[in-house]
Amino acid sequence: MTFQPTITIEPFRIKSVEPLGHTTLAERRAALERAGLNVFQLRADEVLIDLLTDSGTGALSAAQWGAMLQGDESYAGSRSFFKMESAVQRITGYRHVLPTHQGRAAEHILFSAVLTPGAIVPSNTHFDTTRANLQLLDLDARDLLIAEGREPMREHPFKGNLDVQRLEALIAEVGRDRIPLVMLTVTNNGGGGQPVSLANLRAVSAVCRRHGIPFFLDACRFAENAMFIKLREPGYADRTPLEIAQEMFALADGCTMSAKKDGLVNIGGFLALNDDVWAERCRNRMIPIEGFPTYGGMAGYDMEALAVGLEEVLDPRYLQYRLDQAAYLGERLLAAGVPIVRPTGGHAVFVDAGALLAHLPWHAFPGAALSAYLYEISGVRSCEIGSLLFGLKHADGSDAPAPNELLRLALPRRMYTRAHLDYVAEAVAYAAAHRHAIRGLRFTYEAPVLRHFTARFAWAETGERGGGSVEQVLARQLVR
Ligand code: F0G
Repeated sequence: MTFQPTITIEPFRIKSVEPLGHTTLAERRAALERAGLNVFQLRADEVLIDLLTDSGTGALSAAQWGAMLQGDESYAGSRSFFKMESAVQRITGYRHVLPTHQGRAAEHILFSAVLTPGAIVPSNTHFDTTRANLQLLDLDARDLLIAEGREPMREHPFKGNLDVQRLEALIAEVGRDRIPLVMLTVTNNGGGGQPVSLANLRAVSAVCRRHGIPFFLDACRFAENAMFIKLREPGYADRTPLEIAQEMFALADGCTMSAKKDGLVNIGGFLALNDDVWAERCRNRMIPIEGFPTYGGMAGYDMEALAVGLEEVLDPRYLQYRLDQAAYLGERLLAAGVPIVRPTGGHAVFVDAGALLAHLPWHAFPGAALSAYLYEISGVRSCEIGSLLFGLKHADGSDAPAPNELLRLALPRRMYTRAHLDYVAEAVAYAAAHRHAIRGLRFTYEAPVLRHFTARFAWAETGERGGGSVEQVLARQLVR
């Protein structure tokens, strides 16, 4: 007989701690009022458990802190750059590595250096900054996610896959010349942190190669994606996450990366690619806006931390714990009857706020309303991923709904324990039990791009932008 544990433990112990921001209900109500009901506008000290994002919010390891003391801050030719460059090349195999201060800078440099207005850039789902960077350059961001990926309750192992037939049809319809780049976001953040299979990566890569279209990964969460492949894709159980990641990158021609996710660092990113001509154009674009090519947007010590982070993130024990943490929170929510995107993704649990708050129409932003309410009752901060964040428009400029109204509970890396997750599950279950008390939101301020960050709201009164009591909304639905 051998001891067979049923629990996945955190594969680390805690060396340094930080107090949580405890507040009273009255303090949270005042804070929320001041923030215009937008949790992005809260002060972090007013938040108890911060699941706003997994981006740049994780804990560094002792090895990373140690490496940071070795940072070489030379303007040109920094030793730390070469360490980071070889860490990136070991995983991606790409010839050129351009450090940037975060993912969106890599996106902006790539898009502005090599694309021209009017072009279409398909992806499974472009996340907020990617979409905004394309739109600001008059480029058309197209989401070609498989149908299963848009159905929160539907079980499918790779709900982040791109619909290859729709990609082929789009190329046939508009012509190869209007599609100078295809992207795939791994994992698919906008659609529930769902992975993309190697089979799908291979199929997209084959279409791109056949048409001579460069293919890039938005690789923020590449390690989580690799682990999902190891666990779910036939034939990969015995491969290491590193080997799988290498295979993923080998199918593409380059990547943009927010190292704030699977780089396990608080700030940083990169653009990596094979093509010499594109790389030269991107470097020349990068120098005036980010910095000299051997530091770009990063300090030497940040590049040191990233070089170590890229090793640590591919540890299968870490990745198993990471995915199990999301699965654990998901199971607790399901047990409480809370609808979530299934199966749980890598970096977050996504509550189906549209289904939970069925009395609110999409333009009353159920996800954002739930995030405000959840903060008010519990101090837990979360993030809407729905019609507010996507900000899709009809051809006439009026607002269009996103495929789903989700509330994301993002898990910062190596940060919160099971007890914290239990608290979150209890709070969300309470919100679900009191869902009829949650009113919709209406704008009192709306910015033209990336409006979710700075928006201000008031609770919608009966009849405003389709809000109203459960009974009134149900009555309207019956009339329809
Ligand atoms: N691509 C994806 C898929 C992302 O999730 C993000 C950031 C970016 C690009 C941009 O990277 O923040 O370093 O500029 N997502 C964060 C989030 C902010 O909360 O999911 P960045």
